[in-house]
Amino acid sequence: MPTLRPADPDDAEELGHVRHAAWLWAYRGQVSEQHLAELSPLRERLAWLEWFSQPSSPSITKEAWVAVHGGRIVGFTTHQVLRDPIVLAELTEIYVRPDVIRAGVGRALMNNAVDRMAQVGATDLVVRVLEGNVRAHRFYEALGWSRVRQFKKPYRLGEAGSVTVVQYERRLSPPTEPG
Ligand SMILES: CC(C)(COP(=O)(O)OP(=O)(O)OC[C@H]1O[C@@H](n2cnc3c(N)ncnc32)[C@H](O)[C@@H]1OP(=O)(O)O)[C@@H](O)C(=O)NCCC(=O)NCCS
Repeated sequence: MPTLRPADPDDAEELGHVRHAAWLWAYRGQVSEQHLAELSPLRERLAWLEWFSQPSSPSITKEAWVAVHGGRIVGFTTHQVLRDPIVLAELTEIYVRPDVIRAGVGRALMNNAVDRMAQVGATDLVVRVLEGNVRAHRFYEALGWSRVRQFKKPYRLGEAGSVTVVQYERRLSPPTEPG
């Protein structure tokens, strides 16, 4: 099983490779080839450095966690919890290296992210996933998430066209009062 720890800016290069490899593996055929061709490990590394440059604030908790196995990062999550004016918690990313898919890394990362969001008071969690990403749908459903709605949104890179996104939600039991 992997070890989990918070991600660090020194991880940006390796995280860039993991995200790039996972994107190509997961999204080929679901977004345009032009969109995929514009991605690169360097581009993703820079995106990570930008992510690390914007830390949590009083109204938003944001965290990235990595799963490490055999001396390398095998997957990661990012999540954020907004607290103003209501608590809104989103699992923003979960990616596992294509060569270790279906070995429990995603489950370990997900359980950790859910625990972390619960620890800062979140009870209603959201995750969004491409309509065609059926593997991820099965994963979320197996881990207790419910499909709630779907909607169209533009491509991330400002390209013409849109993708259909499915929203999954998960409600956590509120913590029991001591005593
Ligand atoms: C979705 C993803 C994170 C799952 O990670 P993983 O490490 O492969 O998942 P796990 O091995 O922990 O699987 C946990 C359970 O989810 C379910 N599951 C996972 N992948 C599945 C699949 N392809 N088909 C059916 N069920 C699946 C199973 O119930 C599995 O338990 P089991 O293996 O004991 O049967 C991984 O496939 C991934 O990184 N995909 C590419 C990126 C992506 O799509 N991210 C989500 C974008 S929002």
